[in-house]
Amino acid sequence: MVAKNPRNHWAVLFDKIKDYPAGYRVLTGILNSPRRLALTVGMEPKFGDREFILAWRERLKTLQPVPPELVQDGPVMENVDTGDEVNLFKFPVPKWHELDGGRYIGTGSATITRDPETGWVNIGTYRVMVHDEKSCAHYAAQGKHGRMHRDKYFARGEPCPVAVVVGEDPLLFLASILAITHSQDGFIDEYHWIGGVRGEPFQFIKGPVTGLPIPAQAEIVLEGFSYPDKTKDEGPFGEWPGYYASRHRAEPVMKVEAVYHRNNPIICGAPPSRMPDDFTYAYELARAAQLWDEIEAAGLTDVCGVACYQHRFITVVSIKQRYGGHARRAAMLAMHCNAGAFFGRYVIVVDDDIDVYDFDEVVWALSTRVDPVKDIEIVQNCWESLLDPIVPSADDTHRTSHPPPPPLRPPR
Ligand SMILES: Cc1cc2nc3c(=O)[nH]c(=O)nc-3n(C[C@H](O)[C@H](O)[C@H](O)COP(=O)(O)O)c2cc1C
Repeated sequence: MVAKNPRNHWAVLFDKIKDYPAGYRVLTGILNSPRRLALTVGMEPKFGDREFILAWRERLKTLQPVPPELVQDGPVMENVDTGDEVNLFKFPVPKWHELDGGRYIGTGSATITRDPETGWVNIGTYRVMVHDEKSCAHYAAQGKHGRMHRDKYFARGEPCPVAVVVGEDPLLFLASILAITHSQDGFIDEYHWIGGVRGEPFQFIKGPVTGLPIPAQAEIVLEGFSYPDKTKDEGPFGEWPGYYASRHRAEPVMKVEAVYHRNNPIICGAPPSRMPDDFTYAYELARAAQLWDEIEAAGLTDVCGVACYQHRFITVVSIKQRYGGHARRAAMLAMHCNAGAFFGRYVIVVDDDIDVYDFDEVVWALSTRVDPVKDIEIVQNCWESLLDPIVPSADDTHRTSHPPPPPLRPPR
């Protein structure tokens, strides 16, 4: 998050890719500028970070979910490949970093799953590596909704139905990367949420193979099943902390039974690189807005600003201190609320005279107002990720990365 000089990175559309027909494209950077982010959510493209967060919070307060609309057809069905026709390498699937374990069709993708017990449908972004023409694998961290759905199917000994949207509406991508909580059984939260943001129903088709609701306007959708008893190595992948941190692990294989795509389809890519990383821009802003709402909903008063830096490593909250323990309460809430719980490293609470959207000011406050002996508190056993390069091993991961994994090349 950069306040005074909002980032304005380009979106890049790759076409005429070697070995592929012209028109089979890859697009990166769809949400990586304040302007594109504002346009995606239907706001005037005129805001800096703070203004966007405030306006976005106001918008969410009055957001009325709009149910999606089931339609019989859509552009995603312009081409239907099933059975022997399925070939994931029909598309220019990128290998994003030199040491990646394979080509990743899913980075800026959206994976659709359904809870086998309640019918609740979730959409989340979890990276997808192609194994061969007809199979691929996800990495979805423990605790992510799609992973929880998959685990429930596997506990029953059943394959998990999955649909992966590989090129999508930028608003669907935004919904897919945010931790939108599920509210009621059978509710397609992300689609209802998108409908509310846009003010019109999101159109979906019932997936012919899985029955999952797939976006009618998508560029490319893969449909199939993940299997409990079929695993293959996924990774390593150069991830947003700036390392090939997750190494490789055995992950369930998704067998793709059908591929639907538009004519001249576009893969949406969100390749991570070493930070500061424009791929995280929208995430940081939207997460800051969500976290601000959540800590206020939990009862914290006098919050003057919430900012996220380095994707999710650093959260800064400013408060007008009213009572002893106010700052500690702010920190604890920021660390454990839905938008802050996963993979946080530092929560910094500053006074209200500090502009949290100016990191230089935050560093000044840290340097001059903190007594490290008594003002810093270490909280242990929080929700972690295998992408964290300093965690030597974790049950989640089967990872033994000591010394740290290889770093990505620094940005040029
Ligand atoms: C570009 C991008 C890529 C991501 N890739 C992954 C991933 O590979 N695995 C994962 O567990 N989370 C990943 N995330 C985070 C999840 O998408 C995010 O936590 C989201 O809320 C997950 O959906 P859920 O809350 O419904 O589980 C990614 C986020 C972004 C912005």
